[in-house]
Amino acid sequence: MDTKQEIELQKEYIEKIKKINLDNQKYAIFTMGCQLNENDSEKICGMLEEMGYTLTENFKEANLVIFNTCCVRENAEDKLFGKLGELKKIKEENGTIIAIGGCMMQEKHITEKIKESYPFVDLLFGTHTLHKLPQDLYLVINRKQKEEDIINIEGKIYEGLPIKRTSNLQASVTIMNGCNNFCSYCIVPYVRGRERSRQPKEIIKEVQELAKAGYKEITLLGQNVNSYLRVEKEKKIPFEEYQGINSFATLLKAINEIEGIERIRFISPHPKDFTDDVIEAITKCDKVCKLVHLPLQAGSTKVLKDMNRKYTKEQYLELVEKMRKNIPNLTLSTDIIVGFPGETEEDFEDTLDVVQKVGYEQVYMFIYSRRIGTPGDKMQNQIPEEIKHTRFDRLKEIVESKIAENNEKYIGTTQKILVEGKSKNNENTLTGRTDSNKVVIFEGENDLIGKMLNIKIVEEHMWYLKGEVVK
Ligand code: 5AD
Ligand code: SF4
Repeated sequence: MDTKQEIELQKEYIEKIKKINLDNQKYAIFTMGCQLNENDSEKICGMLEEMGYTLTENFKEANLVIFNTCCVRENAEDKLFGKLGELKKIKEENGTIIAIGGCMMQEKHITEKIKESYPFVDLLFGTHTLHKLPQDLYLVINRKQKEEDIINIEGKIYEGLPIKRTSNLQASVTIMNGCNNFCSYCIVPYVRGRERSRQPKEIIKEVQELAKAGYKEITLLGQNVNSYLRVEKEKKIPFEEYQGINSFATLLKAINEIEGIERIRFISPHPKDFTDDVIEAITKCDKVCKLVHLPLQAGSTKVLKDMNRKYTKEQYLELVEKMRKNIPNLTLSTDIIVGFPGETEEDFEDTLDVVQKVGYEQVYMFIYSRRIGTPGDKMQNQIPEEIKHTRFDRLKEIVESKIAENNEKYIGTTQKILVEGKSKNNENTLTGRTDSNKVVIFEGENDLIGKMLNIKIVEEHMWYLKGEVVK
């Protein structure tokens, strides 16, 4: 069966479940991890709603509870097991169907633990079998038996899954899946398979449909977006060039032409693959936001080598310089891991040094978490927990002081904002984001929602700015 036929088969199962689900069946979903997982959950929700399920936030009233898991760091595991503990009693009382999918399910020691300690779970599915949810769920419902559908393959691309998006303004579009980089701390290549890109035509079609439906902001997703179509070209895997798209840069340019879309973001690129054509595309494409997420991971060349990142501290800083020179109004955000095996005080200071030099708009900070099966886990020189935590706190302090310093630069400037909706804490104000992804709160009428507006920034706070509509 090719992927198209596989999807057709799943549509038949959707219809079968729909026939069973005559009364009001409800589902609850719990999503962990990155935006790729969020996007996968939107597909899970799309399939479930076509099966006749409606969403509830309340686990207790759900007929089906589904987890979409992440395994990048250990704390996600604790969260899942905690929730499963809570669900045991609910299941006993209500007969709730419990399904767990996503990255964590690709790890054998986790599925073994679930089967042993939480035997009431009905369905386990992995990253390569997400599209088979209708069939697997049908077997659980119809045969009243437990199902496990996890395979370990390089991975395929499935088009045409239903999707239920969480916003009607901003949409994520996955452009590639998997990763071939094998950074030594990271579990992703083992659970998401090899790098593979969607066909240009499919991406353009999806974005065109989103534009038609009124979406204004598109975030292109992938573990390594700037190597879009690289593997296909290297391994001579056929792909169909469409509207001149044969690389990430040409993809950005083509999406920039789509009428109705106002903003384009992308995560995450890899510094080693940040070629000049991508810099040029960001510069030239007016809709591409000038905020670039450029994961640093560590500032020390020695640690970067041990992490298998394939760039040095100097090369990273040179790239930042080149980007600054070419891209007007460039802002940067990053990911940093502290406490990687062998990280000395001196190495850690290199990280602080890069943070000081670059002046990021936002830094996502992580304490190194040992992942079974990765080279990092086997390294002998693990860093004690207390040291990791003290370094994390020291980094956080510097990051926050740099952000506060940076925020002051916004005062008095006029920023283009996409108005997202009412602000959470104050019904009378609206919220939106700048090109650099800063939250801005301001007074305005509801009919401004969905519009691009000029806002003058009048006040700064650590995590948001306050502004006024420019009349
Ligand atoms: N420990 C801590 N952080 C990690 N990340 C990936 N793997 C680990 C790990 N084992 C972080 C990286 C990556 C982000 C998504 O998660 O910074 O960019
Ligand atoms: Fe993990 Fe590195 Fe791949 Fe990112 S590039 S998903 S950090 S292995």
